[in-house]
Amino acid sequence: MKDLSTLRSDFPMLKNNPELIYFDNGATTLKPQVVIDAVTDFYTTHTSNVHRGDYAIAALNDRLYDEARSSFAKLLNCEAREVVFTHNASASLNQVIYGLSHGFLHEGDIILTTEAEHASNLLPWFRLVKEAGVEVKYLPMNAQANVDLEAAKELFTPRVKVVAVAMVTNVLGSILPIKELSALAHEVGALTVIDGSQAVPHMKVDVKELGIDFLACSAHKMCGPGGVGILYGRYDLLEAMEPVFMGGDMNARFDAGCGYELKHAPTRFEAGTPNIEGVIGAGAACEYLLQIGLDEIHAYEKELRSYFMEQMKQLSNIQVYNPDNEYGPITFNAEGVFSQDAAGYLSARNIAVRSGNHCAKILHEIIGTDSTIRASLYFYNTKEEVDACVAACADITLENAIGIFF
Ligand code: ALA
Repeated sequence: MKDLSTLRSDFPMLKNNPELIYFDNGATTLKPQVVIDAVTDFYTTHTSNVHRGDYAIAALNDRLYDEARSSFAKLLNCEAREVVFTHNASASLNQVIYGLSHGFLHEGDIILTTEAEHASNLLPWFRLVKEAGVEVKYLPMNAQANVDLEAAKELFTPRVKVVAVAMVTNVLGSILPIKELSALAHEVGALTVIDGSQAVPHMKVDVKELGIDFLACSAHKMCGPGGVGILYGRYDLLEAMEPVFMGGDMNARFDAGCGYELKHAPTRFEAGTPNIEGVIGAGAACEYLLQIGLDEIHAYEKELRSYFMEQMKQLSNIQVYNPDNEYGPITFNAEGVFSQDAAGYLSARNIAVRSGNHCAKILHEIIGTDSTIRASLYFYNTKEEVDACVAACADITLENAIGIFF
């Protein structure tokens, strides 16, 4: 296994904050210099719009924008025309859900999802419960958010039209059996809508091999800039789907009689001037990750996580909620201390974690609490950082946590 922490020197944030232990990678990751350069170069040497200009700099940006699409196609193993750029993963999911609600979904149809989902893969469906009369049902899960596949099989009836789940859940890091769920979905004529936000940055995700119909993820969680979401969609499905946004560039023609014709996918989903510098930066991030290797990233993080978990399990003041999962963040609470106070104490020791419900507001149905601390890793984290965090966690008491305020 490669020691990926040698790549720390690629990240100016780490150089500029030598004391910082950044364990909030599930929320957003740090950015390497190549990504910063790609964005800065756009501002300093080749600013223009895309797909509209007939001059050299505009042609350069057209090429860089389209190359970014090809990079994500390589990452996900799909065709470039199956990659749509949006504003974030939530926008990608909302586009799919809006699209499916126009022509594919009808009253009484069932959406299968889980209680471990992020708000972005629940709220748009909940709206369809109100507005379109669809029904939401939850796949059975154990206390660490792992799907019970055998029990789940019973839920796959012809009324099921969509299976909408995260590939890796954002709080407990459980990995869902996407290939098996896709096969079950397709057997009953349903589609899969996968939230890949916490998966794509950390492991190889081959949408064809997994049989995924739609997948959403965001660039900022994988070393890229903010404001860029990625939507993978099977081409035949994208071609049949209604866009949320109408406007410039996505139309082929329109006339005074209110007639219009849209362009083919993916352009029909990218109305208006896109986040050009963001997409170019996202392309640089994608190539950076491909160069490191997603399998290498996964193996490194898995080992680091296991090193972390083994120590956390030994701490008598700490309750861990996902001790048996092999992957993902370490999610825990300190006995008798509110998660936000504990996070404040860790911050006083230069450790950045997220606390609260992490936007997964019905996960408490599974784990019995809606407030936890989440330490989420990436390949630039080290065992030394883990040791420092474990030592700090051992010291979290109500007295210490409140003490930082006085
Ligand atoms: N969705 C991000 C998270 O889980 C923000 O932290």
